[in-house]
Amino acid sequence: MTLALEFPPLQDAILPHGGELINRIVPPAEKQEWLSKADHLPRLSLDARAVSDLELIAIGGFSPLTGFMAQADYDAVVETMHLANGLPWSIPVTLSVTPDVAAPLKLGQWIRLDDPAGEFTGVMQLSEKYTYDPQKEARLVYRTEDEKHPGVKVVYQQGRVNLAGPIWLLQRHPHPLFPSYCIDPQDSRAAFRQRGWQTIVGFQTRNPIHRAHEYIQKCALETVDGLFLHPLVGATKEDDIPADVRMRCYEIMMEHYFPQDRVILAINPAAMRYAGPREAIFHALVRKNYGCTHFIVGRDHAGVGDYYGTYDAQYIFAEFDRDELGIMPMMFEHAFYCTRTQSMATTKTSPSKPEERIHLSGTKVREMLRRGELPPPEFSRPEVAAELVRAMQVPV
Ligand code: ADX
Repeated sequence: MTLALEFPPLQDAILPHGGELINRIVPPAEKQEWLSKADHLPRLSLDARAVSDLELIAIGGFSPLTGFMAQADYDAVVETMHLANGLPWSIPVTLSVTPDVAAPLKLGQWIRLDDPAGEFTGVMQLSEKYTYDPQKEARLVYRTEDEKHPGVKVVYQQGRVNLAGPIWLLQRHPHPLFPSYCIDPQDSRAAFRQRGWQTIVGFQTRNPIHRAHEYIQKCALETVDGLFLHPLVGATKEDDIPADVRMRCYEIMMEHYFPQDRVILAINPAAMRYAGPREAIFHALVRKNYGCTHFIVGRDHAGVGDYYGTYDAQYIFAEFDRDELGIMPMMFEHAFYCTRTQSMATTKTSPSKPEERIHLSGTKVREMLRRGELPPPEFSRPEVAAELVRAMQVPV
């Protein structure tokens, strides 16, 4: 979506990671030529996560990446949380295939990339094929080799050969469910400039919005110019609430509880990795590319089960130089409703005893919703609770 500029653009509040916003959407003049070659190129079928990665590389969300990672970058990222050129980067972005699929492909060759429905989506010029150690990736990136971890499971299930090379995105359909929320990094940057925002805080989420989310979003917004609500809508694990339900909850919040002139809602097409601390860094860098100067990191950010400590995703920021990351984390303790002060709070701001704090785990909420029970108003805004119950009752 392009947001019209009423004023001449001012400078962006923050440069993209690496200094340049990458654009690998094929120039219109070249698109037809690629399409006419479609039947002559070797063909690879991508899964949903790889399609998300392809799109994010192309629109600049993964700047400075211009393609799937070569071995020097992959090794440096896994071992040191930096790209080979020294820029911070914490999650491998790889295209993994089986040795059988990789064998006939020749270096230098252009490969056609299809989405899971078999549609010609992009191309990649193969620069490298390399094997990697999935256990090592699991241990260093996910901090566990447990195959039950949903991110590790993906690593173990994928092929043992990574294909690397620069890509072009050829065909792009606006997200079928959220076309008006497809705001690319260049568009969010334009929107921030247009509004004159110098400080923008980004918010990552994969869960339905609850009052603790709203509290930390608004605490952050009190100190900056604008809030960029950026729910992730790519692949998530099966028991997470579907993206369309989560987006409806956000629309309700935008209508009733947020100041429209201070908040922009947009989708992040990325897939979840559930890599906790490492993913918090990754999420921050992606939002930097979208033009955010600040990024919210609360309790157990991008975590799953008991794999990470409550604040590990905050501690990891201390392993980086502030200037090399560029974007500033805004960290929040575990927020809850405090019955003593009758407001949202954390232990930083409330003198409550544990029994005076209302907070519910995601699992508990999902159980309540399945039983048709409304989460309490101290946990969830009533309009959001009603929407969630309605959505969870509809047979899939
Ligand atoms: S995540 O996988 O995207 O991190 P979720 O959507 O639940 O999951 O969280 C979005 C952001 O809100 C994360 O930064 C997370 O740490 C933060 N968060 C979620 N619940 C709370 C809470 N009760 N208190 C403080 N921060 C929270």
